[in-house]
Amino acid sequence: MNAVLKSVAPGYVKHAKLIDWVHQMAALAKPDQVVWCDGSAEENDRLTAQLVASGVLKKLNPTKRPNSYLALSDPEDVARVEERTFVCSETQDAAGPMNNWVAPAEMRATMNRLFDGCMRGRTMYVVPFSMGPLGSHISQIGIELTDSAYVVISMRVMTRMGRAVYDVLGEDGYFVPCMHSVGAPLAPGQKDVRWPCNQEKWIVHYPETREIWSYGSGYGGNALLGKKCLALRIASVMARDQGWLAEHMLILGVTNPQGEKTYVTGAFPSACGKTNFAMLVPPAGFEGWKVTTIGEDIAWIKPGKDGRLYAINPEAGYFGVAPGTSYQSNPNCMRAIEADTIFTNVAETPDGDVWWEGMTDAPPAQLTDWRGQPWTPGCGRLAAHPNSRFTVPATRCPSLDSQWDDPNGVPISAFLFGGRRSDTTPLVVESLDWEDGVYKAATLGSETTAAIAGKQGVVRRDPMAMIAFVGYNMGDYFRHWLNVGKSISRPPRIYQVNWFRKNAAGKFVWPGFGENMRILKWVTERCGGKAAAQDTPLGRTPAYGDLHWQGLEFGADRFAEVTALDAAQWQTEMGQHEELFRKLEGFVPDELLARRKALATRFAG
Ligand code: GTP
Ligand code: SPV
Ligand code: MN
Repeated sequence: MNAVLKSVAPGYVKHAKLIDWVHQMAALAKPDQVVWCDGSAEENDRLTAQLVASGVLKKLNPTKRPNSYLALSDPEDVARVEERTFVCSETQDAAGPMNNWVAPAEMRATMNRLFDGCMRGRTMYVVPFSMGPLGSHISQIGIELTDSAYVVISMRVMTRMGRAVYDVLGEDGYFVPCMHSVGAPLAPGQKDVRWPCNQEKWIVHYPETREIWSYGSGYGGNALLGKKCLALRIASVMARDQGWLAEHMLILGVTNPQGEKTYVTGAFPSACGKTNFAMLVPPAGFEGWKVTTIGEDIAWIKPGKDGRLYAINPEAGYFGVAPGTSYQSNPNCMRAIEADTIFTNVAETPDGDVWWEGMTDAPPAQLTDWRGQPWTPGCGRLAAHPNSRFTVPATRCPSLDSQWDDPNGVPISAFLFGGRRSDTTPLVVESLDWEDGVYKAATLGSETTAAIAGKQGVVRRDPMAMIAFVGYNMGDYFRHWLNVGKSISRPPRIYQVNWFRKNAAGKFVWPGFGENMRILKWVTERCGGKAAAQDTPLGRTPAYGDLHWQGLEFGADRFAEVTALDAAQWQTEMGQHEELFRKLEGFVPDELLARRKALATRFAG
């Protein structure tokens, strides 16, 4: 008898359609066995022990890094693969010019071919998860089928995963089917490799039927399908249809010394500082101020009855960039990852702890690098991969906000949009109104980072930091943003920020990290009608004297370096805005085209 047919769903799974789908997928992928995950600690211990025994995970030194593990991936499987990510809507226009598109019927044929027998010799795990608090009206349920136990234990950290999901689903509740395989079947007797994956990778979405199929990668957003695939690409389509927003945003709370609390979100592209900003520790000069964390990567934002926008973090953990994270740059994060953390592609110290570039000023005398090779300082190679990451439960974060899993979300007063730009865009600018803010967000530019496989450090347009995450036509997404603004009476103010301006010597001028508090304070006070600003062709900016400088030596001359609007640079910039709109020709709302003309005129004047 086929092993698949013996897979019986546990009694607590009462959803006939779901059971039927699992059986269909098992019949296609042909795993040796099917395991229905319940999310229990025992199950997690068993899978972790299994991963350690097979060499996928290494247990770190329990006195240095309790209950923590290290995984080293295949060097060809280290980041999201945007070139291999597809939005397969019925028409190409529905996906739009910024998404890779293949007709769904054709893609289904390809998927059926690739997935046929792709789990041979492996186990197929059935992973039930909720994005957002279990049972909340805002939440969405997904079921991921995967042949990677590393994915299972990671999903348990990143989402509300486990048996309780089936209680919410009942007999006919709605779920997003998420099919995942590393694409590396094993022949009988064939020895497994440490990190199975396939050179051929496909990250596929069907927005109309809300399905996800991912093949060939076991890494991050390619494989943890609740994250970018469900909570952004599929959710952005749901959000468009239902009048809300699914965004690549951190959410934080700022409490001033008077005890007044303001919630702010920040959309910065991948590896551009969301995690750092979300866990910001106010620097010297900000006694009595407090920053608390709701989320550090994704926000679902819905209009409330009071005319404001309310945001929740659909995730339950952080999959954050390791390099650059230190007790100086992000102490809250460092404390979060002191235990209960899965590290991927960082270096290992001789005493079984972890290290990455930027963790300490001086590197250890010797390490095992992310490829498993001996490493010494000055050997010319990086010890940790630039996109190495940690996976840690949100509940370990010392700055976690008390409202972090409130199903109603928190009211948002300001949206920040920030790219990584060596020049051109200033430290901070306030939009004139919602439409101007949407224009600024839509034309956001940023230098590419190691979070994406491919070329790095190239300026590209990254609208709303969502270039890789909108599951439909980018022009329609701009229209949707304009519509949301019209649907609410108390819209958040919109700001553009840039922590990354460099001087002629190529050094960051702005100290960044905790010092970003100076901008955050100004923003919250602008929202409260308490801070001054001046007009520039781009929008309203603080004059030097409008910011709080106590505790930092940063003179007016250096402030000018990070705020100057250079006419020649802005001419180039405006050309790039035009190029973006040309790429989206026929889809860009007229209001934004008019805004571009008006801005160009202001710079020319
Ligand atoms: P994803 O998880 O990929 O979406 O990225 P993220 O936006 O959460 O990025 P993260 O906060 O992990 O930051 C990535 C890199 O940016 C790290 O190497 C940080 O050290 C660096 N970084 C963060 N904030 C600042 C800042 O204010 N100034 C400078 N210069 N670098 C920063
Ligand atoms: C990003 O690339 O924006 C991430 C990491 O947050 S991943 O989950 O791999 O997409
Ligand atoms: Mn991200």
